[in-house]
Amino acid sequence: MIRFVLTTMILAGWVASNVQAQVLTKDVESKIENILSQLTLEEKVALCHAQSKFSTPGVPRLGIPEIWMSDGPHGIRAEINWDNWGYAGWTNDSITAFPALTCLAATFNPELSHQYGVAVGEEARYRKKDVLLGPGVNIYRTPLNGRNFEYMGEDPHLASILVVPYIKGVQQNGVAACVKHYVLNNQELWRGHINVEVSDRALYEIYLPAFKAAVEEGGVWSVMGAYNQYKGQHCCHNELLLNKILKEDWGFDGVVITDWGGAHDTREAALFGLDMEMGTGTDGLTVSAKNAYDYYYLATPFLKMLKSGEIDEAVVDDKARRILRLMFRTNMNPNRPMGRMNNPEHQQVARAVAGEGIVLLKNGQAFFPIDPDKKLTIAVIGENATRPTTPGGGSSELKPKYEISPLEGLRQRFKNANIIHAMGYASGPSVYGQVAPSPLNADSLLRAAVEVASKADVVLFFGGLNKNHRQDCEGGDREGLGLPFGQDKLLEELYKVNDNIGVVLISGNAVAMPWLPKVKGLMQAWYLGSESGHALADIISGDVNPSGKLPFSFPAKLSDNAAHHFGTLSYPGDSINQYYKEDILVGYRWHDTKEIKPLFAFGHGLSYTSFELSGIKTDKQVYTAGESITLTCNVSNTGDADGAEVVQVYIGKRNSKVDRAVKELKGFRKVWVEKGGAAAVKVSIGVDQLAFYDESIPGWNLEKGEYKVFVGNASDNITQEASITIK
Ligand code: GLC
Repeated sequence: MIRFVLTTMILAGWVASNVQAQVLTKDVESKIENILSQLTLEEKVALCHAQSKFSTPGVPRLGIPEIWMSDGPHGIRAEINWDNWGYAGWTNDSITAFPALTCLAATFNPELSHQYGVAVGEEARYRKKDVLLGPGVNIYRTPLNGRNFEYMGEDPHLASILVVPYIKGVQQNGVAACVKHYVLNNQELWRGHINVEVSDRALYEIYLPAFKAAVEEGGVWSVMGAYNQYKGQHCCHNELLLNKILKEDWGFDGVVITDWGGAHDTREAALFGLDMEMGTGTDGLTVSAKNAYDYYYLATPFLKMLKSGEIDEAVVDDKARRILRLMFRTNMNPNRPMGRMNNPEHQQVARAVAGEGIVLLKNGQAFFPIDPDKKLTIAVIGENATRPTTPGGGSSELKPKYEISPLEGLRQRFKNANIIHAMGYASGPSVYGQVAPSPLNADSLLRAAVEVASKADVVLFFGGLNKNHRQDCEGGDREGLGLPFGQDKLLEELYKVNDNIGVVLISGNAVAMPWLPKVKGLMQAWYLGSESGHALADIISGDVNPSGKLPFSFPAKLSDNAAHHFGTLSYPGDSINQYYKEDILVGYRWHDTKEIKPLFAFGHGLSYTSFELSGIKTDKQVYTAGESITLTCNVSNTGDADGAEVVQVYIGKRNSKVDRAVKELKGFRKVWVEKGGAAAVKVSIGVDQLAFYDESIPGWNLEKGEYKVFVGNASDNITQEASITIK
């Protein structure tokens, strides 16, 4: 009996303390006030800026700990030196590399996003990081943006739904997520200063929603300001974005952290919503002057303005209060879990996200799956079959415990096949900020690959980009839509000797595909992390049925993309200002409304089986504000393999008084159905989500009248339309 009582008490204590750890109770707030009253002005100011590349000081006198941060969204970056961007060369900081967030977005699976957050949060906790500098949710506006691979695609609803569980997963480890880069950092070129001009409507309908969801639903504990400017003010200290929208309208009670080097002015940093200044003296990636920390904008210059009375002490109190709140949620929360690193469960999560995120784009003559038991000669061609994709890309790069290459994964799974690899093409070494040519001879590589392909039953081409500079990497944008390093020509040459070709593109961006008619199978695989090769072999062998859907459109040519349609002032701008002239018509919104057929549409993704949607209906015909639309339908698996489908619900307004996209994603649900079976699916959509941002109010305006409901399994594959009325 005694044991039972004891156990119950321990359990009760654990639950209570965990509840407290999650939801700050008023006694924590009173503790914060108590500490604040003991801090000197110097100590308050010290809290607001870096003491090293990735840490801020606590208050040693009171035993208040330092705050340690680490990149990135896909895994915990290797330890970096105290004062410069060099790696410290630790031997115990190899981690699990999870797939890039474009892959997570392509899963359309919120539950998996939560598992991802829990796993990456455990690894951050184990590495004693209090803030994980991710996730990134900047909207995919142009296929040239160097960092699209780190984000969740072109649609604000998809990003809003997937960012919330990721954040909750990370933060249940007592580690703060840091949603970034707030806001309008949609390209890398001139990122440090470009001033983005965009309509209020597009800001509120396209670029803010994922951040709003991160704060209001995800309860994110920190937000990273973007490098660029908006309305002529740097986003890291921006009165409208930070004081008004983030802190006042959305009620954000956490810490605003600069991007590294994102602060530019003491008075603005003090008064326009910045709480913690990091990386000043760098452009976020180059070396800062040694021990520059005292000269940070929120360091000595700030202290002087406080002492002179030019800035009221209440200003620094608010920052210190937020920072102490972050500490009680993280390194001063006595009950936070201990974390774990690089274990089978984390590896399984990485493999599951990769497997569910790979998108089967084309599958002529049922090219995929390839039977792993048949004695085939398989030519595996391309540098991306063996090139690691966890290094490179900029701040999100990782040092994994291991990374299974596509070739290795295939060799392990296709034991009866005769697999021959030829590199086919070569990019240069991964050098940040440079495009280093390869020392290898392109012609001899091509000829060797053609030779191998000519003798094979099947050709599997692994191409794409590679996280080198201007190839999906921070700090630069791509210069065109085409595949680099002669891949297009190589594919043409391979086709001449063997027409049984499947292509696997490994990239974080859309690419042009002049060879598309000549290849039978095509998959969009992402930067898949530690388990790349296993996940690709799972899909290629048919062990896993692909269920990924594109989180962004693939334009047939660059000028078909909205941002590029409006010329250089729209992208990349004139190096001072940039104008988002497409307004709300980003991605499929543009393709649908302007009737420009994409190469592959947002939400597109094939399966090894087939599905049928039927019985689509809404619970009512007429709705009023505040209500919820419940849409139900049946999904039948009419093929001969178990699989998953994503029911997508788009809604558009007929005869609106303002310009609108034909349709916008407002709900989706992923459902697993065994072969021959069927499943009932329910999607609920808040009527208020149909409002548009009305600049004349300004505010959200739920227009009355008829709306069209489009239900299908891709934005360009609508099974049925229904109509509803808002009274
Ligand atoms: C980089 C990136 C940001 C990263 C930070 C620290 O410049 O913009 O995403 O978290 O600096 O590396």
